[in-house]
Amino acid sequence: MKKTIVSLGIAAFIMACGGSSESASTTSGSSANAQAVAAADKPDGEKIYKQYCVTCHGLYGDMGASGAFNLQESKLKLEERVAVITNGRNAMTAFEALLDADEIKAVAKYTMKLKP
Ligand code: HEC
Repeated sequence: MKKTIVSLGIAAFIMACGGSSESASTTSGSSANAQAVAAADKPDGEKIYKQYCVTCHGLYGDMGASGAFNLQESKLKLEERVAVITNGRNAMTAFEALLDADEIKAVAKYTMKLKP
């Protein structure tokens, strides 16, 4: 009996994980289950920023190394930032090969929060 409960639990866990990465972006958290899973493996924009972006943009977005744009003053919308990060622009390198779409979106969102 105990065994049945355990395997049921495992099955529920596997079901909760499967498909969540695909549906998470389209169903904006209608199911509590999907939300919990999405939160668990959602890319951390701040972490990605500190890993890939500080060398040019600095910790607060205003360093401007290699002519990097001051992200505190950027007026770009989220989709436009995603495009710049994905494809690069002039001296900025493209991150398409380094980050997946979810990570690019997460780091783009993080740059919107960089304020003095
Ligand atoms: C090699 C240095 C370098 C790195 C690394 C870099 N950037 Fe940039 N970034 C630039 C430069 C230079 C520009 C300005 C491009 C231009 O003049 O067209 C820029 C522009 C931008 C813009 C557009 C701002 C605007 O308002 O036009 C965004 C958004 C941005 N970077 C985000 C990021 C993020 C997020 C990362 C990390 C994933 C990153 N950058 C990493 C150099 C860099």
